[in-house]
Amino acid sequence: MHNPRFAPPLLPPAYGARFGEFIGIGANGNLWVDNCDVEKLIETYGSPLFIISENQLRQNYRAFRDAFANAYPDVEILFANKSNNGLAIRHIMNQEGAGGDCFGAQEMYMALLAGTDPATLVLNGSNKQDDELEMAIANGLCINIDAEDELDRIAAIADRLGTIANIGIRLKLDLEPLRDRMGVAMHGPGSLKHQSDSTKWGMTREQTADIVRRALAMPTVRLQETHFHLSRMSNEPADFAVMAREMITWSGYLRDTTGWTPPTIDIGGGWTFGKWYGTGPNGQIDGPDAPTPADYAQAVCDAIKDEAEKLGLPLPKLRLEPGRALSGPAGVAVGRVGAVKRGAKTWVNLDLSTNHLSWAAVLDWYYHAVRVHDAGAEAHETVDLVGPLCNSDELGAHRPMPALARGDLVAFLDAGGYTESAAARYNAQLLPATVLVSGSRHAVITEREQLKDVAGRFRVPPHLLAASFARPEAA
Ligand SMILES: Cc1ncc(COP(=O)(O)O)c(C=O)c1O
Repeated sequence: MHNPRFAPPLLPPAYGARFGEFIGIGANGNLWVDNCDVEKLIETYGSPLFIISENQLRQNYRAFRDAFANAYPDVEILFANKSNNGLAIRHIMNQEGAGGDCFGAQEMYMALLAGTDPATLVLNGSNKQDDELEMAIANGLCINIDAEDELDRIAAIADRLGTIANIGIRLKLDLEPLRDRMGVAMHGPGSLKHQSDSTKWGMTREQTADIVRRALAMPTVRLQETHFHLSRMSNEPADFAVMAREMITWSGYLRDTTGWTPPTIDIGGGWTFGKWYGTGPNGQIDGPDAPTPADYAQAVCDAIKDEAEKLGLPLPKLRLEPGRALSGPAGVAVGRVGAVKRGAKTWVNLDLSTNHLSWAAVLDWYYHAVRVHDAGAEAHETVDLVGPLCNSDELGAHRPMPALARGDLVAFLDAGGYTESAAARYNAQLLPATVLVSGSRHAVITEREQLKDVAGRFRVPPHLLAASFARPEAA
């Protein structure tokens, strides 16, 4: 539960222009995160750097919490840990009262290590291992089943441990009304329905009913919820309302075919943070008409209530698993300009790369770029912001930017989710540090990677050691 002792009141600073409640242009004209000048943070911690605003993260969470509390009687928000795995982030979410969606043993371990109440954690995944299932059962997490043999494996482990396993079932919803609705093409082409149909997730109606029937007969298994995640980026509340309604339709089907009505439905994450597809570099930061968490909550909760009433079902407890909507706008990623090359285009090289901002490689518009010094300056020319990797490494193509020269800093907004947690090491690049800003305090929450961290994992088997230097006759 929300503990106000650890969840301080939020007092946004006064900014000249703001990109969020706690990210904006400060009195000296630079980009600030909360009460810290980003230029000064880079002087202290170096570049490239991820910066997370503790207060913005709390603000984003509270916007969701309040929106759903106003729209529905019984809601639990589970932060999608995958969007930012930082232990400090998990502590902040705990203090706010958020549960968590864990994907795999490591995310589960870190959430438990940070002290998250296991009753508010779920384990999701399409290929769960026995040790992963055992960790979840031993610690009392709800496991969302997503394979036909998972129930028997769970029951066997629960029997062996002499305990009860809590389970849910991940559904393969039909989503017929979303046949022609397009989200953001982040996992390949196709409509929202096509995307859902063609990805590996979820159990069919018949499979779900079969799991329910068998689970009802198992003394060491407790059926807790049904689960779905609209695994495609959209910020259109109506699309999510279709999905939420169908969760209830399936509850009716399960009641009629098995006698079990899910007491909880978990509708996953996927709703973006209020930005229209296409806004960002060339348009507005936030379209004035962009849907808000309140719009999203209202649409989803109205659909659930309406369908439950139609089918004569009790209102279930509602769980949701937002990730990027909470963590994304809480962070910026900052890189330093190196070579500026002019030719057919102007390429501005940064020390930040698509290793760090992986969505930039897929979605050109995704991160809005801001010059850190004199951040409100007029755009001067259109440039391609690129990283140092040996691919094209486009962080932002065709970005109108103020003048940029070697040594300048560029910040990408909305970079608090799926950046650090999805970062790669291509070209043996070192992973950046992450700094948490809280008012005027700042502290490292992820250490910068060192060369030894990359080189130290490699081994050379003994038979290769001297062979590189052996003369042919000695070989
Ligand atoms: C099961 C599940 N829940 C929640 C999320 C979070 O999604 P988002 O960050 O888009 O809200 C994901 C993302 O992949 C997911 O797979």
